[in-house]
This record gives sequence, C-alpha cells and structure tokens, in this order.
Amino acid sequence: MSLNKKKDAIIIKDVTHTYKTETGLLPVIKNLTMNIPEYGFTAVVGPSGCGKSTLTKLISGLLQPDKGEIYLSGEKIATPRPTVGMAFQNPVLLEWRSILKNVMLPLEIVPNKLSLEDKKERAKQLLSLVGLEGFEEKRPSELSGGMRQRASLCRALVHKPEVLILDEPFGALDAFTREDLWQVMHKLRKEEPFTGILITHDLRESIFLADEVVVLSGRPATNQYSLKIPKLKNPKLDSLFSPNSIDMLKRLRKQIELAQVQQGEN
Ligand SMILES: Nc1ncnc2c1ncn2[C@@H]1O[C@H](COP(=O)(O)OP(=O)(O)O)[C@@H](O)[C@H]1O
Ligand SMILES: [Mg+2]
Repeated sequence: MSLNKKKDAIIIKDVTHTYKTETGLLPVIKNLTMNIPEYGFTAVVGPSGCGKSTLTKLISGLLQPDKGEIYLSGEKIATPRPTVGMAFQNPVLLEWRSILKNVMLPLEIVPNKLSLEDKKERAKQLLSLVGLEGFEEKRPSELSGGMRQRASLCRALVHKPEVLILDEPFGALDAFTREDLWQVMHKLRKEEPFTGILITHDLRESIFLADEVVVLSGRPATNQYSLKIPKLKNPKLDSLFSPNSIDMLKRLRKQIELAQVQQGEN
C-alpha cells in the first residue's frame, strides 16, 4: 500500500446483523443504510447497547453482516481491514514501547515502502501536530489520559487510513480535557484530512466535530434521524452556545429520547 489516500467514500447498504447467543438470536442492526463522502466525518449517536460498536466492527471487517453490504474505497468488505484506523475510549497503548514506537506500530503492520527513518519522521510529525513534541521517548504510563488519547489518535492516522473509526474516544476524559481534544480533532482534520466515523454519547461533541449526525434507533438499530451540521470557518467552543447550536442539540436530544423509549419497548 502506498500512503496516498484512495478516492471513495464509505457506503453502508441495507445492513442487518444478528448475534447468535446461548439464549437465542439478538438482532442488533436492521436495514441500516448510510454513506460518508470522501473526507466527510459523520457522528453516530444512539441509546446505550443499540449496536454502535457492532457497526464499527462491521465497517472494519471484524464482523460480517447477515444481509447488506459495506464498501470502503469502492471495495466490498469481506475480511478484517488493516488499513482502517481505530481509536477507542481506552487508548490501549503498549507499555513496553515508547510513545513514538506505539505510533509507528501500524506502519510495521500495514505494507508500505517507507524506510525506518521515514516511519519515524511520519510518527514525529503527527505527535508534534497534536502537541506531543518532546514526549516521543516516554512510556504510555508517563502521560496523562488526554495525552495518551492524543497519541492514540496519531497511531490511528499514521498510515493514512481509508477510514478513521472513533468509538467514544473521549468518553473517559474530564470535560475540559475532552474539549481540548475536540480542538485537536479540528486541527487533525485540517492538516491530515480523513474520512471518519465518530461514535459518541456527547451531543455537543457530535455537532462540534461532525458534518452530519446520525441518530440510531433503539436496538435493532436503524437510521432514525440525521442532521447536517453547517460548517463553520473557524470552529470555536463558543459556537456551541449559539441559538442554532442550541436548536440542533434540542432536536438531537428529542430523537435520543424517542430512540430510548423504542429500545425500552423491544
Ligand atoms: N459478541 C457479541 N455476542 C452477543 N451479543 C453481543 C456481542 N457484542 C455485543 N452484543 C450485544 O449487542 C448489543 C449491542 O452492543 P454494542 O454494539 O456494543 O452496543 P453500543 O456500542 O451501542 O452500546 C448489546 O445488547 C450487547 O450486549
Ligand atoms: Mg459501544
């Protein structure tokens, strides 16, 4: 693989997934359709347990849908994709490796033509972009939670993934650290454009970071509502207090309540 980005978007077409458990079948996703344009960033919100993490596993090829198709960069997903970048609530950095070597890890796994020096340079460049210059040789336990999550974002982006999947990456951080990370995300999007999907419980986070917010229904999850977010030239936290933002938050809140009621009934 070269480090050049491919052209296509993410296409999720009429996807259904049911877990087979010891106590029977658990339908988790039903007839879900959504598209993310190239360099688009979509947030997915929905009740706890509705199937959001399952959706990320389907997109990364770790699970196969029972019905429907998922395409990444124009290719139907049939097996796990090493070219997907992922970050989770728990950054899962390897303690025996330095921060630099943690960030370089995907470059050791995903085939590419970079020399060792190039790999180091690439990882250093990203670490500096997220404000971690000077921390390259530290171990994960020497960093704060917010810093570890910054490093985890670098690791997810280092190989220029065809899609960046973020599953509640800021969920464990305190409110102010989380807001710092939102600013980091805007910087990364500007300097390192990516196509991405963000699973979150935080509606403010969804409208601050994404171009579109999709609300999933209660389990089995399907598209219940979607909201396009107007792009701001210079996004600032203050913009979350604008009448338009408050109106969007109210609408999303209402949809989540509907989804929760529906999930309770299933
Ligand atoms: N491997 C699995 N086998 C069986 N059930 C699962 C499995 N993974 C998740 N589930 C169940 O599927 C539902 C959706 O899970 P998940 O996608 O993790 O929800 P979310 O991320 O929206 O909270 C939950 O009820 C969960 O318990
Ligand atoms: Mg989850």
